[in-house]
Amino acid sequence: MRKICLIIGAGAGIGMATARRFAREGYYICLVRRSDQEGLNKSIQELTTNGHEAAGFILDVTKPDELEALVEKIETELGAIDTAVYNVGAQIGDRDLNDTTLKVFELGWRLGTLGLFRLAKKLLPYMVERSTGSLLVTGATASVRGNRGQHSHAATMASRRMLCQSLNAEFAPKGIHIAHIVIDGLIDAPDTLGKMLGPDAFEDLKQRKGYEKNGLLVPDQIAESYFHLARQHPSAWTHELDLRPYSALPWWNHVKLDL
Ligand SMILES: NC(=O)c1ccc[n+]([C@@H]2O[C@H](COP(=O)([O-])OP(=O)(O)OC[C@H]3O[C@@H](n4cnc5c(N)ncnc54)[C@H](OP(=O)(O)O)[C@@H]3O)[C@@H](O)[C@H]2O)c1
Repeated sequence: MRKICLIIGAGAGIGMATARRFAREGYYICLVRRSDQEGLNKSIQELTTNGHEAAGFILDVTKPDELEALVEKIETELGAIDTAVYNVGAQIGDRDLNDTTLKVFELGWRLGTLGLFRLAKKLLPYMVERSTGSLLVTGATASVRGNRGQHSHAATMASRRMLCQSLNAEFAPKGIHIAHIVIDGLIDAPDTLGKMLGPDAFEDLKQRKGYEKNGLLVPDQIAESYFHLARQHPSAWTHELDLRPYSALPWWNHVKLDL
């Protein structure tokens, strides 16, 4: 039977790297992203040129009903979703309270938390019927640490993390593996960090920390961990994993105490 890996939030970073990794294992890949049709076509072309099966969808997870309709379409027309990756970010850059409007805060919640809740509500019943499936959810430093300018981002990412824990409590005993991955550092991700910084600043960052210095997380390496999580034996499941470059301080160790 065809096995599907559905990736929601599939830019050239974690999204596409995960697609490549699962495709190599014979999965049919469904890529979802919000706006970049050209980027989506390029990704589908890369996968199919390498002999893999893939389909792409432009969809905004904040829009009512579209996410649910897509899950139903895939399940009824393409095959069983064995693994889903919720990878949509909710970063809006640093904004003090005064600059964080109600609208922005609410959008962050829709991206970070409600989208995952909607995916879980629609998808998990299918997985429960089969008593198998994995839901891998990308987190960030903001999932575990609030900071100045991060009101919207930290609130929604922490909420996403807690949603993973409560989903896990209900669904792990039914055979569904829900794993939350704290990405505790910057990723070499052109469609997210790259666009936020702009081409020059992104290249400068890559020169200072990336390439052979390995000070930026490399998407293909993150994808190795995602694949491993989806394949873990039920007797030894990871429910939360954190990843960072070897040279980065972990989130709990950023402040040097002046003793
Ligand atoms: N990049 C970093 O440095 C960093 C650091 C820590 C944690 N993270 C986490 O990593 C995840 C993202 O991974 P990545 O940075 O490697 O990105 P990526 O996989 O390259 O791309 C993510 C894609 O999500 C899509 N997206 C955004 N909003 C969406 C929406 N409303 N509906 C549907 N799709 C949407 C965007 O599509 P379009 O381009 O088509 O709009 C974007 O390209 C996020 O969960 C983020 O919190 C990232």
